[in-house]
Amino acid sequence: MTHFLRNEGDINLTEERKQWYQNLDDKAMVQVVVDSKLFIHQSLSTPCIDVLSECEGSYIITSKGEKILDFHGNNLHQVGYKNPAVINAVKEALDTLPFCPRRYTNGYAIELATKLTSLVPGLSRVLFAPGGSEANSMALKLARLVTGKHKVVSMWGSFHGGGLDTISVGGEAIFRKNAGPLMSGVEHVPQPDSYRPLWPNDPDQDIYISYIRHVFEHEGDVGALIAETIRNTDVQIPTLNFWKKLRALCDEFGVVLILDEIPIAFGRTGKFFAFQHFDIVPDIVTIGKALGGGVFPMAAVITSERFNCVAENSVGHFTHEKSPLGSAAGVAVLKYIEDKKLIQKSVETGNYLHTRLIEMQQRYEKIGDIRGCGLLWGLDLVTDRSTKNRACEEAEKIMYYCIKNGLSFKVSQGNVLCLAPPLTISSSELEHALTVLEAAFQTFLS
Ligand SMILES: Cc1ncc(COP(=O)(O)O)c(C=O)c1O
Repeated sequence: MTHFLRNEGDINLTEERKQWYQNLDDKAMVQVVVDSKLFIHQSLSTPCIDVLSECEGSYIITSKGEKILDFHGNNLHQVGYKNPAVINAVKEALDTLPFCPRRYTNGYAIELATKLTSLVPGLSRVLFAPGGSEANSMALKLARLVTGKHKVVSMWGSFHGGGLDTISVGGEAIFRKNAGPLMSGVEHVPQPDSYRPLWPNDPDQDIYISYIRHVFEHEGDVGALIAETIRNTDVQIPTLNFWKKLRALCDEFGVVLILDEIPIAFGRTGKFFAFQHFDIVPDIVTIGKALGGGVFPMAAVITSERFNCVAENSVGHFTHEKSPLGSAAGVAVLKYIEDKKLIQKSVETGNYLHTRLIEMQQRYEKIGDIRGCGLLWGLDLVTDRSTKNRACEEAEKIMYYCIKNGLSFKVSQGNVLCLAPPLTISSSELEHALTVLEAAFQTFLS
């Protein structure tokens, strides 16, 4: 199967997955089968791999009681699972104001909005949504309303959510294939790739910029460009030059720059927002996942005063728009990150993890590239460093071996191990994860 169908993550249709089920006990197997008879099958989810009964801190815990360090966590577990600060805040909201119907506001939502709009000078307006996909939909809508231009430029290989509009701007085949006509006016451009660049001898990624300029000029009427600041699952980090020039290009053409930081904000990359690495500010940033503390689905757009000009429209009309529960969770997450200095910890732990991964790369030829920052790392496994051919078989075997031995992570593009632990991970947990990884590499990469 082409790696394009595995851009986002590992799929459940492989031979390795079939063999995996031998690891389950009868009780778990029965539940997996019942689940599989009830839910619509989809390649990144059902049929599922196992049954969970608990999650806490850095761990998910199966119904059999196996504790698995979770370096996947759908990228929402920046403050760890069942974080007491978050749970207590949500419990308090549950006991007082579990829901806030439209037309009313509440103290929880106001407090969260106050905190979110104090993070970056100039980004002073918010809208909440129940999920990241919806936040991106709102951002795209806002850009149309503000600019009067409906065309969007986005990147092949990116993910922006599972809705029809967000798969239209998304660039992953697994969401788009057979889906029929998608949103019109979307033009995709290549995602900057530092390891397998489309153009050789372009270390600053200037040709990617020239390509986008060409599209802006020839397409005309482009209202927005949406991108993941750092591509999450296979961990692609564009150059400083790329982002600086793209920001300037958007300004030149009156294009709204929407940065999707749904999985990577809240310190994942070693800064609160990934765009802070590049010294730029987007016109709209979308966040989600960690915002709800791993408890409540919660997302948001944060933008500037200039975008508060659509009062006669309805941009996001969500039942759970100003959710007191989601807002209470968000406030607790922000406070926890600040109190525990988690962004600094993300940098320090990330530097240590990087050093250890580099040492492994020196021992295993098939670790072709290591990319990342903070606590987001991608290990690009190759059959041969000169061809850079993707070592998909090995990657899958390594993933199942690690899960069996207590470490879960995602595999992107079929061959990139994506390591994203909670920012709260302890040093002993990290050591354990590295021991499991090393054993897997010894078994499958030697
Ligand atoms: C970059 C990115 N954008 C958008 C989304 C969609 O978020 P949600 O699943 O909350 O709709 C995701 C989810 O994985 C994501 O990784």
